[in-house]
Amino acid sequence: MIFFEIIEYESIGSTNEEMKSLLKNGWMHEGMCIWTPRQLQGKGQRGNSWQSVPDKDLTFSILLKPPVHKKLSAFSILQMMSLAVVNYLERRIDGNDVLIKWPNDILVGRKKICGVLIENSISGGEVTSIVGVGLNVQSSLSDRQDLKATSIRQESGKLYSVRAELDELLGEVSKQYTRMLGNPREVLEAYQGLIYGKGKTLRFVENGSDEFQAVIKEVDSDGRLVLDRNGIEKAYLHGQIKIQY
Ligand code: BTN
Repeated sequence: MIFFEIIEYESIGSTNEEMKSLLKNGWMHEGMCIWTPRQLQGKGQRGNSWQSVPDKDLTFSILLKPPVHKKLSAFSILQMMSLAVVNYLERRIDGNDVLIKWPNDILVGRKKICGVLIENSISGGEVTSIVGVGLNVQSSLSDRQDLKATSIRQESGKLYSVRAELDELLGEVSKQYTRMLGNPREVLEAYQGLIYGKGKTLRFVENGSDEFQAVIKEVDSDGRLVLDRNGIEKAYLHGQIKIQY
């Protein structure tokens, strides 16, 4: 088990950035969690920003330092985290599928409810992983005006305390992290079973503008998305293609 120590900030630019600057001071240890109910300059994937509704959505970052001898890939942390979020959400939401849109968006039905931003650094052979999570908890459509996003409240009709949900989710992360250290293969298989669009024909965009259709075969152990494009299999890295959904 890993025990998380939560540091709360009333308001902050980005929890990932704050974790980075505290890391530079050298005293952050595994299990540190930076949480704020008001993140003002959240960072998303691919240089995008991450918007969250103050006091209604969950934004936090945790620090993980998996033992070097476990030889885990950066992708293992991502699988573990995605799995933890899905397991946690399945206890809150029923009726709609909770799935992982490769590589790390969590969808309910076809709407995004959570995004994960992992920033790894390696020094002296030691991997330090900053795992940032943005989860829509209480925000509603009128708060967001983004038709492709949803929240726990929107899906379940129930109100949840953001702070209590942080504890719940961290409990699941602790479970999945222990599982990953013991049996990374099992975590990969569970992740594979939750991939949005697996076995289906979807539309993709390559190099920002070239659209094509292909069938999702799997995500390989390096985290690449394997597609069957007109009978030819090809593996893509994150950033090379985007799923249109
Ligand atoms: C995405 O683009 O889907 C990833 C979003 C990640 C957002 C979270 S919110 C907490 C942490 N701090 C940040 O600045 N970003 C991540």
